[in-house]
Amino acid sequence: MKKYRLPNEQIRILVYDKTRPQLYIETYGCQMNVADSELIVSIMIQNGFSITEDINEADLILVNTCSVRENAEQRVWGRLDVFKNYKRQKPGLLIGVIGCMAERLKEKLLEDEKMIDLVVGPDAYRNLPKLVQSAEMGQKAVNVLLSREETYADISPVRMDKNGVSAFVSIMRGCNNMCSYCVVPYTRGRERSRNPDSVIHEVEDLIKMGYKEVTLIGQNVDSYNWINKKNNLKTGFANLLEHVARISADIRIRFSTSHPKDMSDEVLHVMNEHSNICKHIHLPLQSGSSRILDLMKRGYTAEWYINRIESVRKILPDCSLSTDIIAGFCAETEEDHMKTLKLMEWAGFDFAYMFKYSERPGTPAARKPDDVPENVKAKRLTEIIELQNSLSAKSKEKDLNKSFEVLVEGVSKKSDQHYFGRTSQNKVVVFPKEEFRIGDSVLVKIKTCTSATLIGNVVNKRR
Ligand code: 5AD
Ligand code: SF4
Repeated sequence: MKKYRLPNEQIRILVYDKTRPQLYIETYGCQMNVADSELIVSIMIQNGFSITEDINEADLILVNTCSVRENAEQRVWGRLDVFKNYKRQKPGLLIGVIGCMAERLKEKLLEDEKMIDLVVGPDAYRNLPKLVQSAEMGQKAVNVLLSREETYADISPVRMDKNGVSAFVSIMRGCNNMCSYCVVPYTRGRERSRNPDSVIHEVEDLIKMGYKEVTLIGQNVDSYNWINKKNNLKTGFANLLEHVARISADIRIRFSTSHPKDMSDEVLHVMNEHSNICKHIHLPLQSGSSRILDLMKRGYTAEWYINRIESVRKILPDCSLSTDIIAGFCAETEEDHMKTLKLMEWAGFDFAYMFKYSERPGTPAARKPDDVPENVKAKRLTEIIELQNSLSAKSKEKDLNKSFEVLVEGVSKKSDQHYFGRTSQNKVVVFPKEEFRIGDSVLVKIKTCTSATLIGNVVNKRR
């Protein structure tokens, strides 16, 4: 296994060195892909490349892709057409497709697209420099092998965010759940947890670099499970979360994604005991009908999900909840759909990501007829979105005239006189800049709101 161990300071100097070959990287999909792109940048910098944000300067374009829904793939195909035009003007330019689409489509990508030089799956990034070398010599390069061990634990990601306040830390890779609609187990392979010591070192490093918030990420953080081979001691997610929370009271901790079938009260108690663990849980529901949940192979019923929320409300009364919903899964009836709306209303979600079911080739659900007509899917999705808009508005209105600690993350997109940040509950707050700085923690009193944003004034600087 090739190791990458250049010190952080040295890497940082090399990030924007214009004398080296230039890598331009675009990232689609989930937080895991964002984190992976930061690993890839680290690997490529240690192998002679630097980074450019200007595609015109690129010697190598990498597009880190997502396969979760058909429209995610369509977007990438659109981008590949654009990249091809650049290549026509600059013949030596290399184009690599990496990530979930590379894993799903494999060599087929090269057959269909003569302009693509590299196809690299999520567990083969250590090999990227070698594969780029082959491509430079005119050999198309493919590595889509999945691994049972790879966690890239020894590689320090190069943070590509602009503000230096909040960073993702990957704690595991892959997924063993096999939800019947989902492509992830096929594109990202078996679940494996990362050594907790390396997670803790990465968080300590981020604190030294001035970061104020970390988000521990994995497809299902609740099934994090590390066994120490020397003493057989097990570290579960609740233990890991507690270790990370104890590193420093001055750093906020978030995590995502939780799974309703695995989320334990133990995790909720750890959240309660540590004020620096943010009070927000992303708990994908997918459907409010137990019949559909069974067809989706989610491993829980609507009643179980309700019980999990009741536990959250009891142990963490000020915790916010967000969710994912799929409209129009195979065989979903109007009655099933009504159950989803009813459960959403009962739960009063603060935020939701909502999708139409998209059949993914090779998944178990693709063997069943995708039998909810497109117009019915669209109608159900609209009803789900409309309901969520009103729930999101209610969730914001609840916060009016209250004060919240907000971590200042950056300048508001709409006004350069305002900052934005988030509350512990993950709600976005906008407020006048005054003398504050990005990275400060401030107490903001909420005056007004939209359905997406809280708006207020700083009443007190925290630290
Ligand atoms: N169709 C629609 N939505 C999907 N998701 C995952 N697979 C599909 C699919 N085939 C959604 C789920 C998941 C989120 C990341 O994407 O809601 O939680
Ligand atoms: Fe998309 Fe899923 Fe892959 Fe993330 S893991 S990039 S959401 S397919």
